[in-house]
Amino acid sequence: MCGIIGHAGRADRTLDVLLAGLEGLEYRGYDSAGVALANGDLDVCKREGEIEMLQRAVDPGLGGPVGIGHTRWSTHGPPSDANAHPHTDCSGDVAVVHNGIIENYDELKAKLREAGHEFDSDTDTEVVPHLIEDALAGGASPEEAFRSAVARLEGSYALAAVFAGSEALLATRSGSPLVLGVGDDAAYLASDVPAFLEYTDRVVYLEDGEFARLESGTWSVTDASGARLDKSVSRVEWDAEETAKSGYDHYMLKEIHEQPRALRKCLRGRVDELTGTVNVEALEGLEADAVQFVACGTSYHAALYGAQTLRAAGVRAQAFLASEYATSPPPISDGTLVVGITQSGETADTLAALRRAKGRGVETLALTNVVGSTAARECDRTLFIRAGPEIGVAATKTFSSQVVAANLLSASLAERGDAREVVEALRDLPGQVQEILDSSRAEEVADRFVDSDGYFFIGRGYHHPVALEGALKMKEITYRHAEGFPAGELKHGPLALVTDRTPVFAVVTGDGEEATKTVGNVKEVEARDAPVVAVTDGASEVERYADEVLSIPETHPRVAPVLANVQLQLVAYYVAAELGRSIDKPRNLAKSVTVE
Ligand code: F6R
Repeated sequence: MCGIIGHAGRADRTLDVLLAGLEGLEYRGYDSAGVALANGDLDVCKREGEIEMLQRAVDPGLGGPVGIGHTRWSTHGPPSDANAHPHTDCSGDVAVVHNGIIENYDELKAKLREAGHEFDSDTDTEVVPHLIEDALAGGASPEEAFRSAVARLEGSYALAAVFAGSEALLATRSGSPLVLGVGDDAAYLASDVPAFLEYTDRVVYLEDGEFARLESGTWSVTDASGARLDKSVSRVEWDAEETAKSGYDHYMLKEIHEQPRALRKCLRGRVDELTGTVNVEALEGLEADAVQFVACGTSYHAALYGAQTLRAAGVRAQAFLASEYATSPPPISDGTLVVGITQSGETADTLAALRRAKGRGVETLALTNVVGSTAARECDRTLFIRAGPEIGVAATKTFSSQVVAANLLSASLAERGDAREVVEALRDLPGQVQEILDSSRAEEVADRFVDSDGYFFIGRGYHHPVALEGALKMKEITYRHAEGFPAGELKHGPLALVTDRTPVFAVVTGDGEEATKTVGNVKEVEARDAPVVAVTDGASEVERYADEVLSIPETHPRVAPVLANVQLQLVAYYVAAELGRSIDKPRNLAKSVTVE
């Protein structure tokens, strides 16, 4: 999704900060990029394509005490130089960058055209500099003009503007994130902390309806009426090292390998291994008659897992796709807790579902990775998964941490259950993940099946979400067709697609009824000549029917899905690597999806 960076400080540093900031935002996904630096004039440069295209095009001598930069992910109009941000007014004296969607832009554009304004792009954003231009022409100051333009907008936005002849950078937000960075002699603005983390870890989170002014290295925040607000500065725990690739070919591989550490951090101080009890400060006193999870994509798979875990603990629980919940919410009773699982804490669909739940008067909980994110700030409670920054678009370590956090939630609400056994298994989990990372045969398996027509993933019970997640990972980074199913469903239709060119990855652990039935399903695909890859702890007889085996250590059935999933993450990674795909930034995808 789109990204914003801004800088107010030394004139000769602005361009470097903007370009480095745009690189720091690359992971969000984009198709064009641009910068605007204000000095006596306004210098704007923007290009379709990679940031490298912009770097080549921009005059390296450009300077200015303030500047803004943007990575665009197309919503209104295709990727092009003209549609890239920043957008300017007719005179070229006002430059604006925008994340989000301005819903009434058609109407505003028509009025502005009638008044003689000319437009260069297909974007919704371009109305903003023209609205500012109108107000400036009426004698308003840049700040008054910015506020009056913003007052006419409907929709969601994070906006930043700079002006020829002014040393002020003005910004505001409504429904789209913006954060200020506080440096010693510079102030920064970004849609996401990694954009300026190299310079400072001190941040101020803007709330909807607040306005920021950055000037000569200083910052201030005011409310809609212009009254100054006393905002607190907090420190982010992430450091620049954590957001670097550290010798790995891709962020995704680095993040897969970070899982043992991420899981330890998720558990630290929250479980007592001796007594087998779970004690999470954020969940103290939490009670719920029922739980509804809302989430999207990979987080939805964690939600499916979470709902099963809670049901096993005697709590009524369901998982919903947030985009569906937001428009067609299910019935809800007073004691229901609605849990939004969202790595970024900024996914528009999940935020909409959580707001819908809040509007119905029930308690909400965010299960998220990002401190200061919108979900964390809007929900009644927040359980942080502490996975550290995830830069690769494909979620990996955050899924594992979400699953572990779901267990903490379940143990906190449990009516009954086996918390002690689960805690013991969770204690061993980081070491077992490390074992898999050290010994996995995923690269060989990927090599054997890289030329397949498609990939199927099957699993039962707790392994059903893993099957879905294995398929999602495969399709998003390899661009190959992949589907995941509950193992028993394959024969009810999808089996028609199974051939000797469609490997079936079967996740089977333990030797209970679920394993026995899944082995039966494996025999069905084997009889259709499909190659079988068993992801297994070796307890069942699945290996007898498998062409390849990806082994995982034995553990509690509730914890095994995390281990199986690590093997599937690696297979997807190595297939994509062999195909030469853009693994960290797959086509058409974005890290945090801030439109509904
Ligand atoms: C897939 C992936 C997406 C996200 C989804 C929700 O690898 O990353 O499916 O899981 O967009 O994002 P969050 O968790 O940030 O709400």
